[in-house]
Amino acid sequence: MGSILNQRPLIPDWFKLEEVQDFILQHQEEDLAKLRLSGKFPDSAPALPLTQILEFRKRLAQKFPEVKNLPSIYIPSQKSVEQASSMHTASYKVENFPADTLAEITGGLGLDLLARKGKLKKGYYFDIDPELVEAFEWNSKIFDLPAEAEQGDGNQKFLEKNIKVDLVYIDPSRRVGGKRVSGFEDMEPNVLPHIDYLLKASKSVLIKAAPMLDLAEGVRTLPQLKEIHVLSKSDECKEVLFYLKSEKTSEEIKLVHAHFIHDEWRQYACPYSDIIAEQTPLGELKDFLYLPWPSIRKSGAYRNFGKQFNLVKPESNTHVFFSDKLEKGFPGRVFKIKNTYKSLKEIKGKFKKAEILIRNHENDLGTLRKKAKIQAGNENTLLVMGRKSDLKILELERL
Ligand SMILES: C[S@@+](CC[C@H](N)C(=O)[O-])C[C@H]1O[C@@H](n2cnc3c(N)ncnc32)[C@H](O)[C@@H]1O
Repeated sequence: MGSILNQRPLIPDWFKLEEVQDFILQHQEEDLAKLRLSGKFPDSAPALPLTQILEFRKRLAQKFPEVKNLPSIYIPSQKSVEQASSMHTASYKVENFPADTLAEITGGLGLDLLARKGKLKKGYYFDIDPELVEAFEWNSKIFDLPAEAEQGDGNQKFLEKNIKVDLVYIDPSRRVGGKRVSGFEDMEPNVLPHIDYLLKASKSVLIKAAPMLDLAEGVRTLPQLKEIHVLSKSDECKEVLFYLKSEKTSEEIKLVHAHFIHDEWRQYACPYSDIIAEQTPLGELKDFLYLPWPSIRKSGAYRNFGKQFNLVKPESNTHVFFSDKLEKGFPGRVFKIKNTYKSLKEIKGKFKKAEILIRNHENDLGTLRKKAKIQAGNENTLLVMGRKSDLKILELERL
């Protein structure tokens, strides 16, 4: 058990009372400002900290809806919620990186471990922050997860334990001293000096990095890198994961793109070398238009779309692709081009409501809507691309 046991407990006793748990369940959906004014709090709990707990729960439930059914989950701070994985990205890791035994050396709220409920034989959790360790000890019991937690430097504690596991998961802090960092050496902890040891004690190591991180940095600095997974949802790249294996092989690094859409993860995989050489020719506007997932825009794997999907692109620095016949299996959005316009004037008043997509263009969405008098809506889809003299507005039909 953790070295924090001799210290003052951080989870208040009142939080564990049944009437407080009931109160949390009953009021978790309420407007918290109104609740505070109402004064309807149980006598056993102080109003302000309890409201704060409700606030953290609301925020966490947006990422991890299961929280709504678990009144006794303890969430120590807003920061821990901000840093936590979402349910979707956590379940991606559960499905794609299975493990009977797992050590999470920068545990945080521990959602990546808790998401393995029912699938894990033994989990080890470490974090430098004692409050998070105590919260995890409490929460892992509620989740009925077979896991041990210890406070301290994760690398050091894992080394001291001298255990063997299937997977070590590291999700280092990317906000250090109030600043956002993205390089491995700047994150806390810096895992690079420990990788060789971790690969001796574990069959595999999974490292989460910031979406801004240059994939080439991972390829250059991480030994035995086998796979890179880039995860996206809506129009945003969410996570970059580097998967290292202790077993030495000469296989090429695999690049997996995953996009969460229609309630599932879809994948597109290619060899890492596909992002290095440009293999898509330049070409004119044609009948069909293709917009790759954000995860592909991030990695650069679109460079082989000429070869892979028979597409062309209008200019070298773009993520828009065309074809004259419909190509199947494209990892992204596919449209038929219905009409082409050359100025905002031409479309003013023509579309009352539309989804507007923007590529290589100087105006932001708000300005475009104002200028063209188009409200948000799904009735039409328009793509605005290019700058002044080269402006093209494409009216699209979703396929
Ligand atoms: C991005 S968060 C992890 C979030 C976690 N995956 C989750 O879903 O809740 C990074 C964590 O690393 C912890 N940390 C920073 N330095 C550490 C170190 N040297 N050893 C262990 N943990 C550390 C921080 O306290 C923080 O909780």
